[in-house]
Amino acid sequence: MADERYGVREGEVEIERNRLEMLAEARDPRTRRILDGTGLSPGWRCWEVGAGAGTVSAWLSRRVGPHGTVWSTDADLQFHCPVLPNVVVEQHDAARDPTPAAAFDLVHARAVLQHLPERDEVFEKLWNALAPGGWLVVEDGAFASFAEQSLPEPYATVHRYVSTGATTEWRDADYGVRVAGRFRDLGAADIDIIGDVWAMRSGEPGGEWWFMALERAIPQLVEAGLVTLEVGETALAQVREPGFVMMSTVSIAVSGRKNAK
Ligand SMILES: C[S@@+](CC[C@H](N)C(=O)[O-])C[C@H]1O[C@@H](n2cnc3c(N)ncnc32)[C@H](O)[C@@H]1O
Repeated sequence: MADERYGVREGEVEIERNRLEMLAEARDPRTRRILDGTGLSPGWRCWEVGAGAGTVSAWLSRRVGPHGTVWSTDADLQFHCPVLPNVVVEQHDAARDPTPAAAFDLVHARAVLQHLPERDEVFEKLWNALAPGGWLVVEDGAFASFAEQSLPEPYATVHRYVSTGATTEWRDADYGVRVAGRFRDLGAADIDIIGDVWAMRSGEPGGEWWFMALERAIPQLVEAGLVTLEVGETALAQVREPGFVMMSTVSIAVSGRKNAK
């Protein structure tokens, strides 16, 4: 189980489509504020890495206008929304496929690097793809504290498995905590770090991005012998109970700029 990569199995496609839409709805407002904070302007060349539903790419394309470009890539494009002609949507594996050097004014990856076994190498590739003066923005989670919060059983046990990566998604559950150090190692200028948490409730995008991930993960946990189907179903019913509320992961966004030559 642990050596499988990020991917959607048969039967999970609709859950994942809805989940990515919920993730976008919950996180796009903060992402837009952070990306605007880089000075994002008409004419910029942007790369959205692991674009998912593609909503950030669609927003970037309006911001950079007809003289700017957006390269919107993902290993799996089936969930990507339609976009304007200044966006090139391309299937691209950030870990395995070649990337252009010194080509972008802005590179952004949200909730992607934590899933990749080669995350540090990919981080460096994203950095090398920046033109002098360009900005890299990486958003990732800190799931260790999320995993340990006080929750009712049996959900608490299921939650701990899913949030620390005991599913098919091979990840560093706490990569968000390490991101600022990567920027520092590469000599980034103007590093900024923002973190936030929010209340997660069933039926709201801020909760559903996770509760749908649980729905996807439970058959995998059962298959691996970690929980029974009954425990999985009880846990799901617990988070879907009206009035249930829990703390989100800490979402950490780090931005930094490559020195202009
Ligand atoms: C948790 S989703 C985040 C989607 C989007 N960035 C967002 O925040 O709404 C992770 C995304 O990374 C993509 N992904 C996983 N491995 C990848 C890889 N090796 N190269 C490019 N994209 C990858 C997945 O297909 C998925 O769309």
